[in-house]
Amino acid sequence: MRTALLKHTLFLLITACAALSQSRIPKVWDEAALATWATPIANLNVRPSHISPAEYDALPVQNLRTYPVYLPSREPAGYWQMLQTTGPKPLIESAALRTEKDWLEAGRRVFEELDHLPLRTLDPKFIAAARNMETFVPARTTVLPDGTIFGMRWVPTPAGVALSYTNCANCHVGYLKDGTRVVGGPTFMSRETGVAPLLFAVHQANRLVPAAIPIRMGDEPFGMRMYRAYGVPWAPNDIHTRMKTMTQDDFFAWSGAGDRGGAIPRWNGSLFFPTKVPDLIGIKDRKYLDATATHLHRNIGDLMRYAALVSSAESTVFGDHNVLPAEASRVQARLPDEALYALALYIYSLQPPPNPNKLDAQARAGRQIFRRQGCPACHTPPLYTSNKVTLAQGFTPPKPTSPGLDVLPITVGTDPGLALATRKGTGYYKVPSLKGLWYRGHYLHDGSVASLEEMFDPQRLEETHTPGGFSPPGVKARAIRGHEFGLRLNTKQRAQLIAFLKTL
Ligand code: HEC
Ligand code: HEC
Repeated sequence: MRTALLKHTLFLLITACAALSQSRIPKVWDEAALATWATPIANLNVRPSHISPAEYDALPVQNLRTYPVYLPSREPAGYWQMLQTTGPKPLIESAALRTEKDWLEAGRRVFEELDHLPLRTLDPKFIAAARNMETFVPARTTVLPDGTIFGMRWVPTPAGVALSYTNCANCHVGYLKDGTRVVGGPTFMSRETGVAPLLFAVHQANRLVPAAIPIRMGDEPFGMRMYRAYGVPWAPNDIHTRMKTMTQDDFFAWSGAGDRGGAIPRWNGSLFFPTKVPDLIGIKDRKYLDATATHLHRNIGDLMRYAALVSSAESTVFGDHNVLPAEASRVQARLPDEALYALALYIYSLQPPPNPNKLDAQARAGRQIFRRQGCPACHTPPLYTSNKVTLAQGFTPPKPTSPGLDVLPITVGTDPGLALATRKGTGYYKVPSLKGLWYRGHYLHDGSVASLEEMFDPQRLEETHTPGGFSPPGVKARAIRGHEFGLRLNTKQRAQLIAFLKTL
């Protein structure tokens, strides 16, 4: 009798705890939170519109587990058969999550396994290609030690096994030369410390991705679909207009710039003004999302919203401009709020790899230089960012500024293209944190600079400079302007400053 009672009490307790953990989950598409979340677009002075909470809630929920794709010669016996028979399985089973540890593990799975829904395909042509050795040109494919291919996934769906691509982990996992996997670090790391997985080369060589742009919008030509991803119809001489007639080869010539620093441009980004992949480690303490502070990061709900936005609910309406044709929709499905919550908790928990650079005499001398040069005014310890935004060159902020933006009314003079001539163009560049500089590589918002030596080399201001990172295709030499701090040091001081920066 007593044991039955005890069991019953325990059961009640457990259900109460589960209910408790569910109730702390912020609602993702919450009108009040969305209202002032995005930063208005410069030159338009309106926020991008979001779909309504009613529309969002009415979307079908996607919650499917995915499995790695092996190099065909290394696929374990019976694996393909297992995928056929296993059937659709949930990516997250929130009812079973009790402890913090359970939630983090669930979030890890979402981060690692979530696929790009719009790129999911059941087309037998692509599935056969992914199982054919000839697809994987050895020099252009990163095969991980366990024989799996970086970035590709199988998804058992109710309609059969689909081929797809990793979502977050495709761009936000880096590898150090010693094999250390840096979850949350940018996929394209410093050449000194990291290796770049070559998945994008696979795409490029084999056209495995039917078209890189995830929209259901009928049969428009390739260039036109690209234009819809990046075009800025309200800009007087929009550089993106030329995308309308671009071929896939033109596109890949630009977007293959990933390993040169600029990332594959995301929806609302720009092929011509790319952004590097930022480091997600330590993001909990940072107030803005994206190089141009497109969104505030007020709490975990904002990170969940950001993940929802980039995976399925991107903005397509900017003031009077809808970048999609009327009948088209980019939004097809949503993730369960619990999956986004677990994902955000996991991202908050990420830790940097152990730093081999010690604060020795050289680095301590560098710390003095860092202080004397006035760097802490913007890169304020301990976060090494003041969590403020600066003005892009040529931008006059509207008055009053959008609530939540802490504006430092000066410009550091870096290329203003992203901040002024794109749909992510808020007019601002945030002050980035300097944590993790040693493993990240690719500095400044567009990743033009590939090393700290290059960053603090005054030669980079000259037209004859060869950027180590991003440059447009065909451009060998060009100046990397702006951020002229720490450029007037002698060789010894520069080495000291860099030694210090590498300890962060
Ligand atoms: C195709 C590559 C790619 C994929 C896939 C991707 N990201 Fe990103 N992510 C980027 C790039 C590039 C930026 C920088 C955008 C900018 O600055 O405008 C970024 C920015 C971010 C930021 C803002 C960080 C900061 O400090 O400003 C967060 C948070 C983020 N991504 C989370 C995610 C999550 C979660 C997923 C999976 C749902 C994901 N990303 C998928 C490339 C990617
Ligand atoms: C007035 C504010 C300000 C001062 C002072 C300043 N920075 Fe910066 N720093 C920025 C901004 C803003 C960026 C980003 C610019 C961009 O992305 O276009 C940046 C970027 C950087 C980056 C590249 C980080 C990355 O992840 O891309 C490094 C490294 C850096 N600063 C180091 C320094 C050092 C060292 C000093 C002192 C010698 C210094 N900064 C002084 C505002 C400042």
